[in-house]
Amino acid sequence: MLILGIETSCDETSAALVADGTKILSSAIATQLDLLKKYGGVVPEVAARRHTELIGYVIKEALDKAGRTLDDIEAVAVTSRQGLISCLMVGVAAAKSISYAKNVPLIGLHHIEGHIFANILSHPEMPFPHVCLTVSGGHNMLVHVQEKCRYELLGTTLDDAAGEAFDKIAKFLGLGFPGGPVIDKLSKPGNPEAFSFPRPMIKNKSFDFSFSGLKTAVINMFKDKIARGEKLPLPDIAASFQEAVVDTLVAKTLRAVEMKDLKVVSVTGGVSANSRLRQVFTETCKRKGIKVFFPDLSLCTDNAAMIAAAGYARMMLGERSDLRLNVFPNAPLGG
Ligand code: KG4
Ligand code: ZN
Repeated sequence: MLILGIETSCDETSAALVADGTKILSSAIATQLDLLKKYGGVVPEVAARRHTELIGYVIKEALDKAGRTLDDIEAVAVTSRQGLISCLMVGVAAAKSISYAKNVPLIGLHHIEGHIFANILSHPEMPFPHVCLTVSGGHNMLVHVQEKCRYELLGTTLDDAAGEAFDKIAKFLGLGFPGGPVIDKLSKPGNPEAFSFPRPMIKNKSFDFSFSGLKTAVINMFKDKIARGEKLPLPDIAASFQEAVVDTLVAKTLRAVEMKDLKVVSVTGGVSANSRLRQVFTETCKRKGIKVFFPDLSLCTDNAAMIAAAGYARMMLGERSDLRLNVFPNAPLGG
């Protein structure tokens, strides 16, 4: 089954063609880096207007890259849940139009389910059940993935998500947007033990995450150094902050894996591209005899291929949406 995936939940306008939920025939992603740099982050109405401008071209690009036309599409999958409401509306309206005009089935999906499928798409051999850490700019979740499309939510973001903390600290330090890749690179020559930042809720029994306090600790330390006229060792600050995030994510995820008595971890979402996160997960999991999977780098951040893959899995379960499909910025996973 050839599925056209559409993703516009935040600042990436993306379309992809995926065959049978496993083979990516094409992927087109238009980022809004110019706008992000100009405004220092995502401004929902600005992002939505850019999606409106781009969506037609991005869908055409995905079709052209695969050498297909809309007549070849057998279903349309679109992110309809979790994200910026005005941005979600652009993708859903486009998906509905194609579904209606070409008389093909439509399915609306949860954005986080897409991230879970990004890793399944990258590693079709990944066994179930497993624990999945989704770690992005807008969300962190720990999910017990019982089988495809069956989830138990173990923990979620209470305030800033990990990627959001990366972005806000980078913005404060004047390093640009998005902050994750910049801090990842800047940290390489830095000493991760130079500063001792808090590991938020690391010992807490819950599987929820809270990175707002860590962000404030880094910013306060930075302000304090400026006030004292001290040198600002940016690579050390970046590396120490990154280490605190990584320690927290790894410790909580592995505790969830142990609690569920499992041996498989999936790490996905934009922050799963982080080189230190990958290194620490890989080393720790090896020591504990746990298998860890990361998506291909091209599938870590938002993309429509993961939405098409999730859409295929749900369609195989007989699920469909209809033309009343609506958008929900805060829907629960699986809802
Ligand atoms: O999944 P995603 O594209 O969007 C959301 O669903 O939120 O994730 C974007 C987030 C941004 O916060 C960005 O800074 C972060 O992923 N990110 C990284 C890296 N690459 C992207 N964070 C840390 N290290 C990276 N290498
Ligand atoms: Zn995302």
